[in-house]
Amino acid sequence: MIKISKATSKEALIEEWHRVDVPHYGKRIDWKEKEFRLKAVERRKIVGTVEGKHGSGVIYIDSLITVERARGKGIGTMLIKKAEEFGKKLGAHRTWLITGKDWSENIFYKKLGFVLVGTLPDFHFHKDFVVYTREIK
Ligand SMILES: CC(C)(COP(=O)(O)OP(=O)(O)OC[C@H]1O[C@@H](n2cnc3c(N)ncnc32)[C@H](O)[C@@H]1OP(=O)(O)O)[C@@H](O)C(=O)NCCC(=O)NCCS
Repeated sequence: MIKISKATSKEALIEEWHRVDVPHYGKRIDWKEKEFRLKAVERRKIVGTVEGKHGSGVIYIDSLITVERARGKGIGTMLIKKAEEFGKKLGAHRTWLITGKDWSENIFYKKLGFVLVGTLPDFHFHKDFVVYTREIK
């Protein structure tokens, strides 16, 4: 009988995954992920943050926010740029993220050259989300 129960990270069949790396990617892959968290500071106050992770050549932006009073001054753009610089040093070539389909933040991502590549209907809390990506230059 087969039983399903909780596993630890050490029981994650890493070697078995490496066996399929070769047919999938043509080589064995280092799957380590590295998280990042950056802040923008103006006159000793935090005015914006970006959080995410790098893994397998791609950066995921998990959260990005500028405090309301400081918006429109380029802080969000700078935070994304710094996150991509962090990723590039680790070998990243692409950034991706999701945002609400009808949120005004779509304008921000489009201005930065992100391309909408997909939709996630009925996603977080039943809201529709969209997927954006851009190449790291
Ligand atoms: C997205 C966000 C971080 C952008 O921060 P920011 O510091 O204002 O960004 P920038 O100043 O670099 O903006 C770059 C351009 O995008 C525009 N822009 C930024 N946020 C925008 C928004 N929410 N709606 C419409 N346009 C926006 C700016 O006006 C600016 O336009 P311009 O180049 O013509 O002057 C900010 O709007 C925010 O904190 N939103 C709330 C949190 C959120 O929803 N985060 C994203 C969820 S995934």
